[in-house]
Amino acid sequence: MPNRTPYIAANWKMNKTVAEAAEFVDTLLPRIAATQSDVVICPPFTALAEVVERSRGSAVRVAAQNMHEEGFGAFTGEVSAPMLVELDVEAVVLGHSERRQLFGETDEALSRKVPAALAAGLEPILCVGESETARDAGETEEVLERQLQADLANVESLELERVVVAYEPIWAIGTGRTATPEQAQEVSAFIRDVLRMRGAVVDNVRILYGGSVKPGNAAELMALPDVDGALVGGASLNPGDFAAIVDAAG
Ligand code: PGA
Repeated sequence: MPNRTPYIAANWKMNKTVAEAAEFVDTLLPRIAATQSDVVICPPFTALAEVVERSRGSAVRVAAQNMHEEGFGAFTGEVSAPMLVELDVEAVVLGHSERRQLFGETDEALSRKVPAALAAGLEPILCVGESETARDAGETEEVLERQLQADLANVESLELERVVVAYEPIWAIGTGRTATPEQAQEVSAFIRDVLRMRGAVVDNVRILYGGSVKPGNAAELMALPDVDGALVGGASLNPGDFAAIVDAAG
């Protein structure tokens, strides 16, 4: 049985000022002091440095929510991997459905961002997921395979195990509707198959579920054989709820 360290990530999206982020970290750290899991906080850019500094010496690592694929240049409003690494940020969320839907993030751009993150030493947390229409049309696997093949096209097989994949059905994000354990397991196993086909050492790849994860449903989802953790949005804004989800990983 593969022994993957559970991975629980808090995606704050566009929430929390620096002061609010500091308060969250100070409340969270004593609550998760005993965890054996990888705990990752993804604050907005403005709070990255504060969260890094406050969580030094703890189980918490810090991820950005996006980055540009180039190291520098005339890209107004963007932030590059070296800028994140300088802050001791260790990971980056790429391809979140909100970025895909609201900000025009394409698979083409992701095919450059994922290797750029890896080259800079950042751990990509690559989000994939189907819309409700695609699921209803029976196209879930097709959509996911297309996203994974395109987004990881420029990643060498041996590097694939450094990518964390988050399965986030779009219809479950922020809606209070969670995928059933059967759906989450089925899709996560499918994602592992696609990565196996790409030559990944799949026993080492962490696959997360995201979409309305809460203290009440986290344990059941994370106990699934192919689900190794959670990417948590709304429920990660409250340190008590997030700590309960970290506890649920065991
Ligand atoms: P949610 O968001 O937990 O609020 O559904 C998850 C996500 O978007 O990563």
